[in-house]
This record gives sequence, C-alpha cells and structure tokens, in this order.
Amino acid sequence: MLKGGIVGFGFIASSGHFPAYAARKDVEIVAFADVCPARLDAARALAPKARFYATHEEMLAGENALDFVDIATPPAFHRDIALAALRRGAHVLCEKPLTTTIAEAVELALAARKYRRVVFPAHNYKHAPVVKFAGETIRSGRIGNVRAVTLNTFRTTHAKGVKEWRTDWRRDRKTSGGGIAMDHGSHSFYLTFAWMGSLPTHVAAKTLTVDRQFDTEDNLNCVLTFPNGYAHCFLTWTAGVRKVIYSLQGTDGALVIDDDDWELTASTSKGKPQVERGIIESHWMDASHKQWFDSLFEKFKASIAAGDHASAELREAVACIQIIETCYRSNAEGCRELPLSLDVREL
Ligand SMILES: NC(=O)c1ccc[n+]([C@@H]2O[C@H](COP(=O)([O-])OP(=O)(O)OC[C@H]3O[C@@H](n4cnc5c(N)ncnc54)[C@H](O)[C@@H]3O)[C@@H](O)[C@H]2O)c1
Repeated sequence: MLKGGIVGFGFIASSGHFPAYAARKDVEIVAFADVCPARLDAARALAPKARFYATHEEMLAGENALDFVDIATPPAFHRDIALAALRRGAHVLCEKPLTTTIAEAVELALAARKYRRVVFPAHNYKHAPVVKFAGETIRSGRIGNVRAVTLNTFRTTHAKGVKEWRTDWRRDRKTSGGGIAMDHGSHSFYLTFAWMGSLPTHVAAKTLTVDRQFDTEDNLNCVLTFPNGYAHCFLTWTAGVRKVIYSLQGTDGALVIDDDDWELTASTSKGKPQVERGIIESHWMDASHKQWFDSLFEKFKASIAAGDHASAELREAVACIQIIETCYRSNAEGCRELPLSLDVREL
C-alpha cells in the first residue's frame, strides 16, 4: 500500500487523479494540502478520514509516512514543492509542465538522484488508447521508419482552473510560466520523442497572442528537427473546435489520427497501398483524462520499485521544458532556428 499526499486539489486532482486513486487497492491518499480553504473542503467531502493542510510545508511537517507526493498545483509552484517533498524522503508525481524553466527542471533531475527518490512527470497523453496504438503501429514496422510527424491540438479556449481559486491562472505568466506552449507543449513534444524514436536537436517557433487581454500566448507553431526527420507542432486555444489531429509519415506508409479515428496506409508488394480504418475510444473530450491515469500510475510505481529515480520519463520532461523555453527564445529572435544544446540523456 502506497501512502500519498496531494498538493493542489483543483480540477486535475479532483477529477482526474483522485477518482483513479480511490478505485485502486494499492494506494491511500492520507493527506491533502491546498492554499484555498474551499478546495480543502472539497477534498474533505471525498476523503473524510484524511488530514488537511493549508500549505505543502505544513503537510510535509505533519506527515511522516508519505511514500509519495502528487503535485497538481499550477506550474510556478512545482519546483519548490517537489524539492521539499524529496528532502522529506517522498517520491514525487508531478503534473506537467515539470517546471517553468530549464534551470529548475535540471535542478529537479539532479535532486532526484541526490535524494534517491523518483520524480515522475504526468505525461498522460502517452496513455491514451489511440496513442498506444500509434506506438504499436510503429513497432510493427507497417509504416517503415518514421521520418515526419505533425501534431495539431485545437482548443476553443484555455483550460480553466477551478472557480474557487483563480480560474484563469493559465493566462497569468507569473503563475503559469507561459501560455499554451507552457501548458500543453509537453504533451506534443514527448509524443514526438516516442514517434521519432529520438530527441530533437533544434527548434524554430512562432507564438501568437490573439486574445490580447492576457500576457501569455494562445497559439504556438514550431518545427523540431530530429536526427532522422522533423516534427511540426501546432497548438491553439482560439480554434472553433476541440480536437487533436496527428499524422505519422513513414518510409512505407502513414498513420493519421483524428481524435478516436485512425487511418493506416501501408505500401504492399503489389504496388497498391492498403488502407485500413478504425476507431479506438480514447475519451479525448474528458479533459481530466481520468481513464489514462491508472496506466500512468503503474509506470510511476514501476519506477519506484526499480529505484529508477531520474528515469527516461524525467529526462523527457526536462527535454520538454528545454524545447518550451527555446520556443520562446526563437520567437523573440525572429523565429530563428535554435539548437537544443542540453543533452538530457547525460543528466
Ligand atoms: N496532464 C493533464 O492532462 C492535465 C490536465 C489539466 C491540468 N494539468 C496540470 O495540473 C496542474 C493543475 O491544473 P488544474 O487545471 O487542476 O488547476 P486548478 O486551478 O483547477 O487547481 C490548482 C489547485 O492548486 C491550488 N494551489 C495553488 N497554489 C498552490 C500552492 N502553492 N500550494 C497548494 N495548493 C495550491 C489551488 O487552490 C487549486 O485548488 C497544472 O500543472 C496543469 O498543467 C494537467
């Protein structure tokens, strides 16, 4: 039985993480910390036997048997809470983006090694059923070697936080660290790593702020260069519809994903390509992604069991923050292509 404490009981913790924990037999959430009293009340209603704290410091001081801390606050607070949890000997499951700067991300990777505790990012899109199918398709060899991928993510607005706290924190740079690139970039970037089978070496980016009442961007366009090809990622909070459209182009075919729908085109020895289509229910419209959490948590548990403190997943999270930070720099420098010079494999 793993005993956990949740810091930040807002939308993702209450709608995504907690229902999944409550259904598991191997986890007990024994403590909650949230700066907003109304959110502690919400936690108390669901877990009356747990203990409740106004800050993560109080929670870590008051609890001496936490196996892990689940961090689900806005990103600007992730680094401090993660470091405090590691110092108390707890493993860390941290929502994306891991941190808001590359310096902080590297600091957390080094701290995971130093304190011999796992720091694991909630890179949950890997656990969407149709995304797992994409991985299986690549491994089957049916589309050959992947040379190019495109990832388009359409949203009609920025995601909202719970009403009781600051529902628009994603548009406030001090709290979020940035706009859609910071909020959603990680999901697209770690999928490119999996599909291209390597890490990118360069990025060129353009950001746009269509809704100018906020100080964070609501659109990102970027091209990542990989040793074996490239990826194009487009993220928008100003679209007319919520959906994802991904495409993977290989030397022998292609896979196109449009939410739950997929179309696989593979070359055959007879010359005429074979086309297959299908649907894999992946619950894209449920922003809590609670259906994906169990599969993610199994990976976190496996890292703990293996003592894999600075896992490949953690290094991917650092790579994501490097890309996000470099996207902002590229945009500021006239969309110039810039190197991603930190080799996260060496962390
Ligand atoms: N992986 C995903 O698919 C996904 C989806 C949504 C959100 N998220 C991530 O989850 C995190 C939270 O997002 P959300 O949408 O749940 O936001 P939210 O605003 O709904 O919840 C944040 C909660 O944190 C609390 N809080 C704020 N500062 C705190 C602090 N310093 N200490 C303790 N509590 C604090 C707030 O009171 C609130 O209850 C973000 O990092 C976000 O990117 C991930």
